[in-house]
Amino acid sequence: MTIKAVDIKDLQLAEQGRSRIDWALQEMPVIRRLLEQFAERRPLQGGRISGCLHITTETANLARVLIAGGADLVLCTSNPLSTQDDVAAALVADFRIPVHAIRGEDTTVYYQHIKAAMEHAPQITLDDGADLISELHRSGGALLGDMIGGTEETTTGVIRLRAMARDGALKFPVIAVNDAMTKHLFDNRYGTGQSALDGIIRATNILLAGKVFCVVGYGWCGRGIAMRAKGHGAQVVITEVDPLRALEATMDGFQVMPLVEAAARSDFIVTATGDKHVLDAVHIEALKDGCVLANSGHFNVEINIPCLEKLAREKVRVRPFVDEYRFQDGRRIRLLAEGRLVNLAAAEGHPAAVMDTSFANQAMAVEYLVARRGSLANAVHAVPQQIDERVAQMKLHAMGIGIDRLTSEQQRYLQSWQEGT
Ligand code: ADE
Repeated sequence: MTIKAVDIKDLQLAEQGRSRIDWALQEMPVIRRLLEQFAERRPLQGGRISGCLHITTETANLARVLIAGGADLVLCTSNPLSTQDDVAAALVADFRIPVHAIRGEDTTVYYQHIKAAMEHAPQITLDDGADLISELHRSGGALLGDMIGGTEETTTGVIRLRAMARDGALKFPVIAVNDAMTKHLFDNRYGTGQSALDGIIRATNILLAGKVFCVVGYGWCGRGIAMRAKGHGAQVVITEVDPLRALEATMDGFQVMPLVEAAARSDFIVTATGDKHVLDAVHIEALKDGCVLANSGHFNVEINIPCLEKLAREKVRVRPFVDEYRFQDGRRIRLLAEGRLVNLAAAEGHPAAVMDTSFANQAMAVEYLVARRGSLANAVHAVPQQIDERVAQMKLHAMGIGIDRLTSEQQRYLQSWQEGT
C-alpha cells in the first residue's frame, strides 16, 4: 500500500471550505485569542502532531491554532461519514496541512488514512474516539519511542484509553480533554443537544411536537438531547441502566421505563450510551411502525444494525440519510445515517460556539504536554484545573460577562472550621 501525501475529495472545493471556516471562526472567540497567543509564543515549534478528528470547520480553526504555534500537523478523519470535503480542501490549499479524509470512505480507506497519520511519526496525537492511539499501539512499534503524549476529545475514547491504562498497555500520557468541565458540560450537553436534533430534523423534516421521543442513556449527551426534544414539544422518555441517572431523569420531569416498553410507543429513539447493541433484537421486535432510529454515540454499534438487516424483508433508501427497513408484518423502521453519529453525518456537528471551548482545551492541553515532556506518567490525565478555569474565563470575557470575586473575609470563612452559627 502506498501512502499518499494528501487524500481528499476535490481541491476545487477549497474556496467554499475557506469561507465556511472563517464563518465558524466568528463564533470562536477563545480560539481567536489562542490564535494570536500561539502565533506570538510559538509553543509547539517543530513538534510533529497527528490529529484523528472530525474534519469540520471547527477542527480547521483548531488546526490553525496548532500551526500558528509552530506545529507540523497532519490530519485524518475520526469517522468515515463526518468529513466536510470542502473543509479538507481548504486545509490543504490555504493552510498547507496534509489531510487524509474523504466523506463516505469505506473502512479500508479509513484505516489507510489513519496509517498516513501514523507515517508522520507524531510526537503528539489528537484523537476523537481513540482510533489513532489504538492503531499506534497495535502496529506503531518504533513510532511509540518519540511520543510525548496525546489528547482525547470524547467520552468513548476516554473509556477505551482508561481500559488500556488499566491493562498497563498505554505507552504514553494522554489528557482526557472530554473530562474538562468546559468540554463535557457544554459540548456534550448543549452541543449534542442542538446538533443531534439538527441532524434528525434535517434528515427527516418530521415535526417533533406531540411525538414520543425516547433517549437511551442520560449522560451529558442524553441530558442535552432530552432537554432540546422537550423544548420542541415532544413527550420525552428516558431509558437508563444507572439508578442514579434514572432517578435524576425522573426528577427532571421525564418518563423513565425499560427500553423494550419505550420501543413499543416511541416515534423516535436516539441512542447516546457509548455502549454496544443497546437497541437489540428484542427491542427491534417491539418497535412501532414508522419509528425513526438515530445514534448519537461515537461508534455505529449502539443499534444492532446487522440484526436489523437480518430481521427486515427489505431496505430502501427513502431520503438522503434515511434507510427504511420493511418487515414482513408491515412495519417500517427508519434508520438515520446508517447508525453513525447523526449530528455529524446528517448535519454539521456541534456549533462553533461550543467547539470553541472544547478545542481551546485541546490546544492548551497540547501546549501543556509539550511543556511537561518526559515528566508525566503513562496514564490518562485530567485537564489541569487552571486550564479549565482559564478557558471559562476567556469565554466569559469574550461574551462580555463579568463575575464577582470573594472578599478576603469570605475566603477566610471558607477556609476556617472554627466559625459556626
Ligand atoms: N464533534 C462534534 N461536533 C464537532 C464539530 N463541529 N467539529 C469537530 N468535532 C466535533
